[in-house]
Amino acid sequence: MQMKLKLTAAAVLTLVAGAVMAQEQVIKIGHVGPVSGPQAHYGKDNENGSRMAIEELNTQNITINGKKIKWEIQAEDDAADPKQGTAAAQKLCDAKVAGVVGHLNSGTTIPASKVYNDCGIPHVTGAATNPALTKPGYKTTFRIIANDLALGAGLANYAADALKLKKIAVIDDRTAYGQGVADVFKATAKKKGIQIVDEQFTTDKATDFMAILTAIKSKNPDGVFFGGMDPQAGPMLRQMEQLGMANVKYFGGDGICTTEIAKLSGGAKTLGNVVCAEGGASIQKMPGGTAWKAKYDAKYPGQFQVYSPYTYDATMLLADAMKRANSWDPKVYIPKLAESNYKGVTSNIQFEPNGELKNAAITLYVYKDGKKTPLN
Ligand code: ALA
Repeated sequence: MQMKLKLTAAAVLTLVAGAVMAQEQVIKIGHVGPVSGPQAHYGKDNENGSRMAIEELNTQNITINGKKIKWEIQAEDDAADPKQGTAAAQKLCDAKVAGVVGHLNSGTTIPASKVYNDCGIPHVTGAATNPALTKPGYKTTFRIIANDLALGAGLANYAADALKLKKIAVIDDRTAYGQGVADVFKATAKKKGIQIVDEQFTTDKATDFMAILTAIKSKNPDGVFFGGMDPQAGPMLRQMEQLGMANVKYFGGDGICTTEIAKLSGGAKTLGNVVCAEGGASIQKMPGGTAWKAKYDAKYPGQFQVYSPYTYDATMLLADAMKRANSWDPKVYIPKLAESNYKGVTSNIQFEPNGELKNAAITLYVYKDGKKTPLN
């Protein structure tokens, strides 16, 4: 009798396990950012945010269309390079991921957005800020941070109104991001009566800026605006110190507003001249920021940069839309994604018809004793 019961229990277990297996569905979400090269620290931070969300989703026993979902991330590297960006996008299209979180750079995200539109897969960026991204009106493009129209203008207004600066020189790295944010800054600064005393150009590979800084110094500006990323801004701040430009304010968008810039500027006092802008609330003012950041830091010590709360939210947002649509088929869930009203860690996420975030905040930061500190 006892033997018979045991067999029955084992058989039932096998049956149940078999049924569960049969009903499990894998949903893949792609993530793309630069996880190699000089911008790898940004890309890893972004990927960490997305991985954290995937892990949490897997603890939530989510069922969609009668199937228990196993969430997986397919992480790709675009090395911040536009060509690698479109190649990674095509790879994710071919792998038939349900949605994509990315990319990080405007220079990769803008060309990749066409690839996603062509294959009908939505992508949500929590980092690319060039306003041109949403210009084509693709139904597959979404951004959950403020764009450079807000960042560039916010910085120029601060330079004019709060700091009363009169003469600013502008440098950009000729990427879609650097050039775009510098153009917005210049336009607003001029309107506010600031004179743009010099314009210089570099690349997102350069590390020696002595020649352009020397040219700028001769124009005696009271501020420099840099459109670019921290692998350039860090050494540039060091070289400004070497050239005796210790009293020149230094402005930049979210691309320089990292934890890493404190290291990359190698102890230069000019870090204290930095004012940078990010397209969202500070961690302290985000609805779930402080608790989320504690979890992130415990999991990925020392890796936080800028955008991981946004890539976390972007991943959760895609899953939320699939749940509401009861489908992971992009054709079915994209309309639900467009109608999102999602209480994220970073904000309450709702979209404009063109895929831009509604009511996007911006925050200005300075570096106090080497530590990134919000001004508002
Ligand atoms: N906001 C930066 C860009 O758009 C990272 O490239």
